[in-house]
Amino acid sequence: MGRRRARRSAPASIAAPPASAPCYARGVVGRASLGLGLGLLIACGGAPNREPEGWDDELRLASPIDRNPDPHVLEIDLVARPETLPIWSLTPPTPVYTYDGGLPGPLLELSVGDRLIVHFRNELPEPTTIHWHGLRIDAAMDGAPDHPHPPVPPGGTFDYDFVVPDAGLFWYHPHVRSAAQVGAGLYGPILVRPADGSEDAAPPDELVLVLSDIHILDDGSLGDPNSGGDFGTLFGREGNVVLTNGRWLPTIRVRSGITQRWRLVNAARSRYFQLELEGTSFRRIGGDGGLLPEAIDASRLLLIPGQRADVLVTPSDAAGSIQFLRWIPFDRGLGSAELRAPELVLRLEFVDEAGEPVAPTLTRTIAPIDVAGATPVELRLTEMKDAEGHPLLGINGVPFGEGEPFPATVGETQVWTIDNQTDWSHPFHLHGFFFQEIDEDGAAVEPIAWLDSIDVPAHELRRIAVHFDARPGMWMFHCHILDHAEAGMMAMVDLREPP
Ligand code: C2O
Ligand code: CU
Repeated sequence: MGRRRARRSAPASIAAPPASAPCYARGVVGRASLGLGLGLLIACGGAPNREPEGWDDELRLASPIDRNPDPHVLEIDLVARPETLPIWSLTPPTPVYTYDGGLPGPLLELSVGDRLIVHFRNELPEPTTIHWHGLRIDAAMDGAPDHPHPPVPPGGTFDYDFVVPDAGLFWYHPHVRSAAQVGAGLYGPILVRPADGSEDAAPPDELVLVLSDIHILDDGSLGDPNSGGDFGTLFGREGNVVLTNGRWLPTIRVRSGITQRWRLVNAARSRYFQLELEGTSFRRIGGDGGLLPEAIDASRLLLIPGQRADVLVTPSDAAGSIQFLRWIPFDRGLGSAELRAPELVLRLEFVDEAGEPVAPTLTRTIAPIDVAGATPVELRLTEMKDAEGHPLLGINGVPFGEGEPFPATVGETQVWTIDNQTDWSHPFHLHGFFFQEIDEDGAAVEPIAWLDSIDVPAHELRRIAVHFDARPGMWMFHCHILDHAEAGMMAMVDLREPP
């Protein structure tokens, strides 16, 4: 079976199945019943069960040009460069940073085991790197500046080259002056599908939703990346315009009652996305590290910065009505929810036909990480002041760059206790490895999920278990409120082969 990368670039060709198509499960039920399925099983409904042609045109993401004829290699050129784009209809165009001239950058679609080669060129007026958020690749390809490769200077190039090991939605973004560079528009999605066809039965009406925000001034210019001074740093700078796939309030045209699969990533520099969809709940079927063993139904969906969610939604309403996906204020510390109103994220326009919902069954199993004999590691998320009284964030009282790395050995399992001693929540992120949340007895929190990010609310504590496989090197971990990371809440694991 060929790669499915073309899906997003030519959705019109798949938007209208034959009218008689009884079912789109394509034999996966049989495959999964043999015990091979890691994915989704769907009970077949009736008639044509698709959204109308062109329903998601306003959410279209760019696809890159693949220079490599091998179907299992995606080889692309990618340029980071300034561009002036019409982002907000109320202001003149805005000078932003882009990958390949777009915001977000192109959607990279691969299957598990495929190789990604990115010939990267930096045309920004400052150094940068690309970090492949959530991908379990080698440390040398991870984009951590100077570990081991120096940042790519203006005019410089770098070749990223690795195999993608896991199915799920991931994303890429810079790791130099990350708050400013991500805030200026540098981020893009990576969708990795299972190679075994185990998700062929998933609802075919799928959206990749890159959520972010941007700070645009009245004259269309970009807000100062250091706006608000110390308070801006402590709060984490949120933009005044919420963006869905780089657009303010795009519209999708939907048929009432059809189940859609939404793959979401929060690419904002600081904003938490708590979402609500009128009259409909979210069925969360996956997250950072792919599918969950069981679905979670909730009326609200929370995505902390950097986090992904895989959800099924079945919007329904009378033809001609309009519904909104809304951002709902979320309390992540002083000033984050007070006096703030919901904001609009996505507009759903109901067309006349009605479809049938589907109720997939998840068939993935995830074994808990064995924490017997694991090494305990204590991390405190701390707030200090520098000599001039400016806030300095850190881990164990030490800002990034001033402390020793945290040692780990290949093959070792560690249990990290993350104790947030500050008045703000911190979305904690570890590069290169998935972890599991565990309780005080060391038992995995159910349903067991593979994570690369976890919210640690103010003055609370979270525990995670992580197993370090054979990818030695320096691995970053940090708060994904990028203003906090840049203010010092970042450190490294030094993963070595056993002596
Ligand atoms: Cu998206 Cu260092 O992370
Ligand atoms: Cu933080």
